Amino acid sequence: MVQKIIGPRALPHNEQGEAFAPSNIALCKYWGKRNSDLNLPLNSSLSLSLGHLGTHTRIRANAFKDEIYMNEQRLDPSAQFSSRLIAYLDLFRPASDCYFRIDTHNNFPTAAGLASSASGYAALAMALNNFFSWNLDGASLSILARLGSGSAARSVYDGFVEWHRGESEDGMDSYAEQIPAIWSELRLAIITVSRAVKTIGSTEGMRRTVETSALYAAWPEKATRDIESIRHAIWGKDFAELGGTAESNALAMHATMLDSRPALLYWLPETVAAFHKIWRLRQDGIQLYFTIDAGPNVKILFEEKNEHIVRGEFDDAEIVRPFVC
Ligand code: DP6
Repeated sequence: MVQKIIGPRALPHNEQGEAFAPSNIALCKYWGKRNSDLNLPLNSSLSLSLGHLGTHTRIRANAFKDEIYMNEQRLDPSAQFSSRLIAYLDLFRPASDCYFRIDTHNNFPTAAGLASSASGYAALAMALNNFFSWNLDGASLSILARLGSGSAARSVYDGFVEWHRGESEDGMDSYAEQIPAIWSELRLAIITVSRAVKTIGSTEGMRRTVETSALYAAWPEKATRDIESIRHAIWGKDFAELGGTAESNALAMHATMLDSRPALLYWLPETVAAFHKIWRLRQDGIQLYFTIDAGPNVKILFEEKNEHIVRGEFDDAEIVRPFVC
């Protein structure tokens, strides 16, 4: 599969390759795989990239072994994070005795609880592309990033991004594309409820949901409808439709998680308190909506005109302006 994209492996390389990729938050979530080796999803998804918040990665050749540094700290090669990354690098080694040194920096606050795998694998795929001078287009980069982590398929672009689930078994039609719309007034606030590493990651959470939740049967169709509405909302700049659909989509994903055996509940009491606060403010006429991934932290969608209210109501909110340089 990788060979279909990059061609024969034995290529000369540059001294180094580097790239930045933004983190992203899905407005219509990816939840469930039809092929877990290739990270092929059961539904298409649509996200918003987080502008300057993301991962910068540099890759160089290394003698004798792979070495991975994250935010200047050398990572234990036997840790799960490193072995997943090393297995990913195996896909691209020109020879089995060719090793890499990876230096990666996340510029989002660790406390924000953003997943680093989306921006991490997108930045790595793009850095490899520069290191080997493959000159790949966006769709090919998206496929390579997807092999590291599904949501990384969307992090190769800025702005709104749609990842098409695709139909083919080899995944060559499962890639993301940018939706070329700009919404300068759109804002997102990250509300950090907990900094703890979650006990059940997305990969395992999805597997459990697909295998055990009866409600999951309704999910792919719901996702298809939601993508349609979100696309419509983007082009019509209809904030209530965008926010309302994103919120409903996140809650439906969590409903399938709750229906799993054993049940998956990522929320903490503070998560639910944030939902109630957002609903209360909305009842008072302030257009705030939320979305939430496989963790306890809440992301609020709002427009620029309500930024002072979000700052006042949510003390530690990290505010992102996805379309402002
Ligand atoms: C809830 O992309 O982290 O954030 O493909 O197994 O690496 P893997 O999963 P991952 O799952 C993301 C799940 C989500 C929804 C989303 O980002 O679309």
